[in-house]
Amino acid sequence: MKVLLTGGAGYIGSHTCVELILAGHTPVIADNFDNSCPEAIRRVEEITGVNVKSYELDVCDSEAVERMFSENDFDAVIHFAGLKAVGESCAIPLRYYRNNIDSTLTLLEAMKKHGVANFVFSSSATVYGVPERVPLVEGMPTGCTNPYGWTKLMNEQILTDAASADAGLSVVLLRYFNPIGAHESGRIGENPNGIPNNLMPYITQVAAGKLSRLGVFGNDYPTPDGTGVRDYIHVVDLAKAHVKALDYAASHKGTEVFNIGTGTGYSVLDIVNAFMRVNDLEIPYDIKPRRPGDIAECYADPSKAEKILGWKAEKTLEDMCRDSWNWQSHNKNGYDPD
Ligand code: NAD
Ligand code: UD1
Repeated sequence: MKVLLTGGAGYIGSHTCVELILAGHTPVIADNFDNSCPEAIRRVEEITGVNVKSYELDVCDSEAVERMFSENDFDAVIHFAGLKAVGESCAIPLRYYRNNIDSTLTLLEAMKKHGVANFVFSSSATVYGVPERVPLVEGMPTGCTNPYGWTKLMNEQILTDAASADAGLSVVLLRYFNPIGAHESGRIGENPNGIPNNLMPYITQVAAGKLSRLGVFGNDYPTPDGTGVRDYIHVVDLAKAHVKALDYAASHKGTEVFNIGTGTGYSVLDIVNAFMRVNDLEIPYDIKPRRPGDIAECYADPSKAEKILGWKAEKTLEDMCRDSWNWQSHNKNGYDPD
């Protein structure tokens, strides 16, 4: 299939681009490089030995999107493009709503006009809000605590409504849990701007000496060791879920939603200890107060994805820790020259 990857130069998009090429698909990337750079695409080409067509454009720019659809006969769209920082979304909510919602509407309109029937969307476990219980099952109540989360939930609704109104449209909503790790080559990986908000990039930057100590946000949660529990998933496993989602979309109509996680929760200290053991490194840390908005536990019941998509995470926590460090240690400044 010829597949448009919006945000395809980003962390998850670049890894998915590799897996799509390996599965025999032809990805085309559209990215405005707001949170990425063309070097990521060059590295995907280096890993796969395949040239990847790309467009530098804003997916909210309907004229540019229209031109791109006119030049390509797409079979499907995977919509990764979006702003994703929770704290920033509280500070500049309108930018988040404009970017994350407008992009979806623009794509849906272009798809309708050009008869493109398959849409895979990057949703998030954040749509479950504060879970009543874990593991999370797709039918559980949703609700959000910040504008970023609301953009995901609103997009889910928009896409569901669009598919109900259009018998030709197929939508797959993928609710990602916590992606970490990197391609085993160490050539592509997560490249956060400034000081990372998320746990694994913070740990790797402490290991690299760019940050001095990790702060562990709270050790008084009702969890086995008191620190927050999450479902960390290797980004390559996550990328492979998109290949399965495309196959599913191409052979079904309507909307389907899937949790994409491993089903196993690890605490912050589990991650720190595994990272130190696997990479033979010290990560100095201090216990800090809880981070506002954090929840105690969040992990998936991923059985629906296994049953219906035939997808299951395969990589271990050790793989995630090793590959995260392999990427960071070989790319001290991400995609910028050392
Ligand atoms: P990322 O920031 O690395 O990638 C997003 C890409 O979209 C970037 O390359 C950015 O330049 C591009 N982009 C943003 N707005 C655009 C626009 N209007 N037009 C064109 N390009 C635009 O983020 P990621 O971690 O790869 O996340 C991909 C998607 O998955 C996002 O929608 C994110 O919300 C979602 N998600 C991510 C996580 C996570 O932990 N990384 C978890 C759940 C969901
Ligand atoms: C965060 C976002 C979530 C988003 C996800 C992926 C918040 C409140 N939630 O999820 O919406 O979908 O990122 O981008 O921001 N931790 C530390 N020290 C750190 C960083 C994190 O102890 O320096 C802890 C956190 O308290 C949490 C765990 O590590 O228990 C994971 O944190 P993080 O990687 O930020 O992911 P989430 O909070 O799950």
